[in-house]
Amino acid sequence: LNYHVPRTRREILEILIKGLQRLEYRGYDSAGETDPRLNCSCFYLLFKFISIFFSLTEKLFKQDIDLDVEFDVHLGIAHTRWATHGVPSPMNSHPQRSDKNNEFIVIHNGIITNYKDLKKFLESKGYEFESETDTESIAKLTKYMYDNRENDDLSFATLVERVIQQLEGAFALVFKSVHYPGEAVGTRRGGPLLMGVRSDHKLSSDHIPVLYRSSGKDKKSCNSIPRTDQDTCLFPVDEKAVEYFFASDASAVIEHTNRVIFLEDDDVAAVVEGRLSIHRIKRSAGDYPARAIQTLQMELQQIMKGNFSAFMQKEIFEQPESVVNTMRGRVNFDDNTVILGGLKDHIKEIQRCRRLILIACGTSYHAGVATRQVLEELTELPVMVELASDFLDRNTPVFRDDVCFFISQSGETADSLMALRYCKERSALTVGITNTVGSSISRETDCGVHINAGPEIGVASTKAYTSQFVALIMFALLMCDDRISMQPRRREIIQGLRVLPDLIKEVLSLDDEIQKLAAELYENKSVLIMGRGYHYATCLEGALKIKEITYMHSEGILAGELKHGPLALVDKLMPVIMIIMRDHTYTKCQNALQQVVARQGRPIVICDKDDQETIRNSCRSIKVPQCVDCLQGILSVIPLQLLSFHLAVLRGYDVDCPRNLAKSVTVE
Ligand code: G6P
Repeated sequence: LNYHVPRTRREILEILIKGLQRLEYRGYDSAGETDPRLNCSCFYLLFKFISIFFSLTEKLFKQDIDLDVEFDVHLGIAHTRWATHGVPSPMNSHPQRSDKNNEFIVIHNGIITNYKDLKKFLESKGYEFESETDTESIAKLTKYMYDNRENDDLSFATLVERVIQQLEGAFALVFKSVHYPGEAVGTRRGGPLLMGVRSDHKLSSDHIPVLYRSSGKDKKSCNSIPRTDQDTCLFPVDEKAVEYFFASDASAVIEHTNRVIFLEDDDVAAVVEGRLSIHRIKRSAGDYPARAIQTLQMELQQIMKGNFSAFMQKEIFEQPESVVNTMRGRVNFDDNTVILGGLKDHIKEIQRCRRLILIACGTSYHAGVATRQVLEELTELPVMVELASDFLDRNTPVFRDDVCFFISQSGETADSLMALRYCKERSALTVGITNTVGSSISRETDCGVHINAGPEIGVASTKAYTSQFVALIMFALLMCDDRISMQPRRREIIQGLRVLPDLIKEVLSLDDEIQKLAAELYENKSVLIMGRGYHYATCLEGALKIKEITYMHSEGILAGELKHGPLALVDKLMPVIMIIMRDHTYTKCQNALQQVVARQGRPIVICDKDDQETIRNSCRSIKVPQCVDCLQGILSVIPLQLLSFHLAVLRGYDVDCPRNLAKSVTVE
């Protein structure tokens, strides 16, 4: 929303489309925009398409509208949808509207769990629904509450505050209305929402006090919000130009501003005549009474593709640097020490705990599986690794002397966030391992480690996995830094971390060879990946990569379980990839290899480059350098990242936007 920034409609549409492109990784079944004009409050155009952005852009600019007309004050909203209720279709894409005159327009990220009740109620009042979405009930409820208002001076913020009191579930919402020209209101509960603030002029403050109102009793005072109060609003001094951006994620706004405000659950942010204020019904425990403007360090080029054909490919090749960024300033290779600033106030308490529970989803869960063994070894504590959804389904017992880790690239995954709140209610200490500064998980945990891998855009996670892996290893090293008996092992691992970036480069140089392998495999229906010990996680993660982006069936199999079922799948046609490294499971892995060969399987082996015996026994091998056993999983997973990438390209799929998936799943 722009105030005194003259822009043409074309420019505004371009800003909106760019913003959507940057958020593409959040889901992209369908997209929609509203016409950005704002002064002319009685007429809005809604553009909705099932499309990816190229066609959205093409279609938008073919509309019969004047693109060069300039507006001084204007508001545009746009949305990219990952379907939860209703198939991807123009009708189900957002914005959703209250009525044919578009009196209230809303975009929504999340799920409204009581929408059926709301819909029934609204239908009984004569509202006709046009989409299958839960979101439409929000737009219609807003109109219903507006039409039934008691006072004419009901502000937009108060109206939205009342609407969200009726909503159950998770949401981030942005509203606009013909009744409130020049105004926009955004709010969140469970779904992320931030505000970017751009102005070349001095701002009135570097924070905004939150306006609290006791709920609904004193309706009169509720309606008379101090709309543009000097002390409670943010604005550029002397009424100069300002642009406000509501977005689910900083990547959508970073090219316009690096000054952002992260909204908290139930905050209602209102922009009225170039002034921003933040409202809440009441103050919740632990809530700060102001929201600060933060300056983000993220660079636009960090989220650009560069010379690579896909973000995923770029991110795979960034790993020599991203693991260094995870360790930077934290690991001292000369005196073998590790410092994690985000844990320093809590490390003593963590050392005294009863057990560690690692909770996550998808790839982040695999990072927990990958490091569990070394965590058990170095902390001598029981370590549980849990999928967040299952952990919650089981009502898992959690105690106050447990330490619960939440591993999440985005820091916004709904299942992980729910599990975090569950553990906090039970007074466990909570630790976040995230890649997104300011994300919900990083803010709601007691302490944590930012993995600093840089923005990850490809839906299939790659560099975040290896950085989470390194972060958890650093934590394990920190936990035993005063244990004399552990020092030789600590030194070995720290020196392993020192050479890791070069070893990753060596693995990446196998790209051509892996591309050739992909050319032999891409027409198969299925791929099995087997390993054990430190490499079981690699099997799970490799199989997930293949499923996610190639749509081939793939299964990660614990080699120890081979004879208990999976061996039945092996024949001369089934591609089998085996990970065999020279660690304590080596002999057992050799047995598994023999069992596969005996069933006429033709194993492709990822192994140590000097392991002649394995190379001889396999029909094909991918030879990687050797590192200390507990870090070897980083080197064994990269060939599988590359393989899945090449398989997807050869099968003709969009690597960064696999069907039905989203990068950041903010719904349960
Ligand atoms: C989604 C993504 C996965 C990711 C998982 C957990 O399913 O598609 O790539 O691993 O969420 O995401 P998080 O951001 O919590 O690590």
